[in-house]
Amino acid sequence: MSASPVPGPRVRGTAPDADPPLLRVTGAVKRFAGVTALAGADLTLAAGEVLGLIGPNGSGKTTLVNCISGALRVDGGDIRLQGRDITRASRARRARGGIARTFQNLKLFGDLTVRENVTVGGNASARTSRDEVERLLAGLHLDGVAREVVSDLPYGTQRRVEIARALAGDPRVLLLDEPAAGLNDGETGELRDQLRRIRDERGCGIVVIDHDMNLVLSISDRVQVLDEGRVIYEGPPQEAFEQPHVVEAYLGAS
Ligand SMILES: Nc1ncnc2c1ncn2[C@@H]1O[C@H](COP(=O)(O)OP(=O)(O)OP(=O)(O)O)[C@@H](O)[C@H]1O
Ligand SMILES: [Mg+2]
Repeated sequence: MSASPVPGPRVRGTAPDADPPLLRVTGAVKRFAGVTALAGADLTLAAGEVLGLIGPNGSGKTTLVNCISGALRVDGGDIRLQGRDITRASRARRARGGIARTFQNLKLFGDLTVRENVTVGGNASARTSRDEVERLLAGLHLDGVAREVVSDLPYGTQRRVEIARALAGDPRVLLLDEPAAGLNDGETGELRDQLRRIRDERGCGIVVIDHDMNLVLSISDRVQVLDEGRVIYEGPPQEAFEQPHVVEAYLGAS
């Protein structure tokens, strides 16, 4: 393997100060016609960490994830993966570097089976070994439906297929955009356990966007709150809603 930071050895836990974080976004700016979706947003993620990314509707959460995955290019700022500048890297290169994501609106191959979706993986350039596919299916309790066509399955199951598919490339960074949307309480509880296990077993960094505050505040090691494309809070989950300006951002948006 090359000696470069990507795709070098994984670093578990908190890296020494001299080492760059797993992922660092600095001053991200993204404009759409007439709308500034990101107005200088920062984000830092360590290996083995779950970061909750919350904020009112339209605050820029999905846009930030899109800029990290390479679905969108930032208009300003920079993005580094283990210290390497990926600001202008293609989506495929970022996927090869270990960035995987799920979508707010599911993007599965509806007419393929569960196993086929996971085999193709989030990163089609790196087909996943049979054993790994079977482990992923079992880990997300999908072994019983492996041969079912995805579009025939309940929504909650499809969400798990998307996570298994994102994990198929063995990512270092997992970006989850509203993984609990449309899930019932039981399914959300299961998701919480699964995400904890993924973090603990794989040591990847996970960014979770969700409007289910119970979920986000209970699984995140740290949260950051976006409002109008800026980070207005970053710190311990339990203190986020003790900040009057965070509460006001939510009230203002509703
Ligand atoms: N492709 C686009 N074209 C134009 N405007 C966009 C586009 N994508 C996002 N926006 C705008 O950028 C802002 C941020 O949107 P974004 O989807 O990132 O918010 P969000 O925090 O994910 O919201 P939600 O919680 O509703 O999913 C919004 O004002 C949105 O309308
Ligand atoms: Mg969104």
